[in-house]
Amino acid sequence: MKVLITGGLGQIGSHVAEMLLERGDRVVVIDNLATGRENHLSAHPNLRVIIDTIADRQLILDTFEEFRPEAVVHAAVSYKDPDDWYNDTLTNCVGGTNIVDAAKRFGVKRFIYFQTALCYGLKPMEQPITLNHPRNPGGSSYAISKTANELYIELSGIDYVTFRLANVVGPRNVAGPLPIFYQRLKDGKKCFITKSRRDFVFVNDLAKTVLDACDGTGHGAYHFSSGSDIDISTLYDEVVKAMGINPYPQAELRDLGPDDVFSILLDPSRTFADFGKIDFTSIETTVTEAIRYYQKYGTLGEYTHLRIEEKK
Ligand SMILES: NC(=O)c1ccc[n+]([C@@H]2O[C@H](COP(=O)([O-])OP(=O)(O)OC[C@H]3O[C@@H](n4cnc5c(N)ncnc54)[C@H](O)[C@@H]3O)[C@@H](O)[C@H]2O)c1
Repeated sequence: MKVLITGGLGQIGSHVAEMLLERGDRVVVIDNLATGRENHLSAHPNLRVIIDTIADRQLILDTFEEFRPEAVVHAAVSYKDPDDWYNDTLTNCVGGTNIVDAAKRFGVKRFIYFQTALCYGLKPMEQPITLNHPRNPGGSSYAISKTANELYIELSGIDYVTFRLANVVGPRNVAGPLPIFYQRLKDGKKCFITKSRRDFVFVNDLAKTVLDACDGTGHGAYHFSSGSDIDISTLYDEVVKAMGINPYPQAELRDLGPDDVFSILLDPSRTFADFGKIDFTSIETTVTEAIRYYQKYGTLGEYTHLRIEEKK
């Protein structure tokens, strides 16, 4: 199979690329290195990497014309600065619609997208959140622009799967609490935690399911979730354990920030019905693998999608 992966040097895209290459597929990656790294993918005879932006319409059309992908895994995204609306819309809306439009023109058979759980708003009306929950992305530039891209995919008539995700973690994860805890602990700084809970999944578990989606399983929206969330304090404890820090560095418990969400837990029942049973990797293994990566390559910025206190 020929698969075009946008953002293929990022966390999710690079794991999907590796698995596709392993089974003999041909892969073209387009990535502008905003949050990805060239060393996330090793050279391979079936891999071509284009370092450029999906916002360049002509480049996208030329690449589709030349490569003629059968499936597209659209993982490129801008989110580094919550106030950088220009780059969020340029990549997530203009770039995103360039990809959707080219996929439609060149008859792509399967289109895989990744949506943020923030599309349900900062105060979801139910826990776990079901796929019937209305989209309400107004709380962040990231969610607004990601949702616009998802709506264009729906509008296009392409056969698509959109995986709505809470927190995908593991090696090459550069955003969210895991790299922040690691970096602060490494620098000997105090961490803070809130009483919030999150639904963490291991990136390789998602990547395996993305391959099934490329092959034809599923249509429409899915929650990729184990169906259970954990306290942020549990994640913190796992990071301390994986780093082998002794004595235990107590984290400071703070109130939730104004744009922080108490719990994000996604209802995965449709995913299990259509994709079958998924063997989710434990949080211990997930964190251990991530820490091993940070110890070798560093964390690259520790971004957050929201304007929360963790960055201070
Ligand atoms: N990781 C999560 O917890 C999570 C949660 C919800 C949704 N998602 C979605 O999953 C997808 C992949 O996320 P990820 O965790 O791998 O993030 P990531 O930052 O590791 O990967 C994104 C990649 O896109 C690239 N990129 C950014 N702008 C680009 C542009 N204009 N042109 C080409 N490439 C560009 C970056 O350099 C990076 O390699 C994104 O759509 C993201 O919104 C991820």
